[in-house]
Amino acid sequence: MNLSFRERKASGEKFAMLTAYDYPMARLLDESGVDLVLVGDSLGMVVLGYRDTTSVTMEHMIHHCRAVVRGVKSAFVVADLPIGSVDTPKLAVQNAMRLYEAGAHGVKLEGGVSRCREIAAIVEAGIPVMGHIGMLPQRVLVEGGYKIKGKTPTEAQQLYADAVAVEKAGAFALVMELVHPEVARKITATMTIPTIGIGSGPDCDGQVLVIHDLVGLFPWFTPKFATPRAHVAGAIREAVQTFVQDTKVAGGLTMEQNILTQPPGANPTPVSSSEPNPATPQKRQSSLSVDGAAAHAASAASFLKSTRTDSTQFPDQSLALEKSPKTGRGSLERRNGQSLRCGNLKPVQGQIEPKATDC
Ligand code: KIV
Repeated sequence: MNLSFRERKASGEKFAMLTAYDYPMARLLDESGVDLVLVGDSLGMVVLGYRDTTSVTMEHMIHHCRAVVRGVKSAFVVADLPIGSVDTPKLAVQNAMRLYEAGAHGVKLEGGVSRCREIAAIVEAGIPVMGHIGMLPQRVLVEGGYKIKGKTPTEAQQLYADAVAVEKAGAFALVMELVHPEVARKITATMTIPTIGIGSGPDCDGQVLVIHDLVGLFPWFTPKFATPRAHVAGAIREAVQTFVQDTKVAGGLTMEQNILTQPPGANPTPVSSSEPNPATPQKRQSSLSVDGAAAHAASAASFLKSTRTDSTQFPDQSLALEKSPKTGRGSLERRNGQSLRCGNLKPVQGQIEPKATDC
């Protein structure tokens, strides 16, 4: 059964979204059942080591988006439009199209009332848009920090206006970052599209986190609202320290740790068809000569080559762009059941009085 985001919200279903920036993480998230994978421009901080997201470029986003898309079979992939990429409707459409061509199913952009023309233009071009209001990381230098929004009536009113403008412009969902929980709750109750919160309390229609914050992979900083559910940085440090010890102190790695398995002249180990990716760790067995190792490596290399050139390798990789015969506009659907697609825009009913906008 294909349900739109709106229908899923109406049915009370919650949305789980996490960020990913590369193939293995994307594949792990997808295999673990997330609904949406976000290629966030937070990659500037947690992957590229910048202080904030203001140095991230379209080239960075496209590069990481391609890697993520290769790892995802089921989830809906959203890619961030970085700072400076949506300054006019025309530029916004061009850059959204580049991310779409890199395999994203939809794009996300920061801003409410001030960005409704760009959102409408991208939707008009057939690409689903996720809005993002509240604390806008791309404006951190202007705002001087990451502060909660909606604490004053004026700020709350502005957030309502932003949310309504984003929905009216045709977005299929809305991220609310560091929005006061009470304001987030009211906006969620008013909107027909799902809200996905980060640091905005429990009453949004879904939650999103930077994956590094969830699994403890960026130990130098964890936002207050994130509770790490694993300590991957610690596990990596332990494994690396053990390796360093094994290498330097214990007199070198043991034979078992150091070499592949295969007697000289034996056929290369076949790669299991149920695990089609060479990135899957192969269990190491006993000893092997150098020649055998070379044969094994050659086999892996040829498998890798065929995987990369064979687009049917992941037949479920599932994105269909269906053009409406009526409007000529596209809507994106996944082919493998349970698809998430953008519903039609409905007028917003509710108590909120948006400020006048151009849209
Ligand atoms: O870039 C990002 O990871 C984001 C999330 C924090 C929502 O925009």
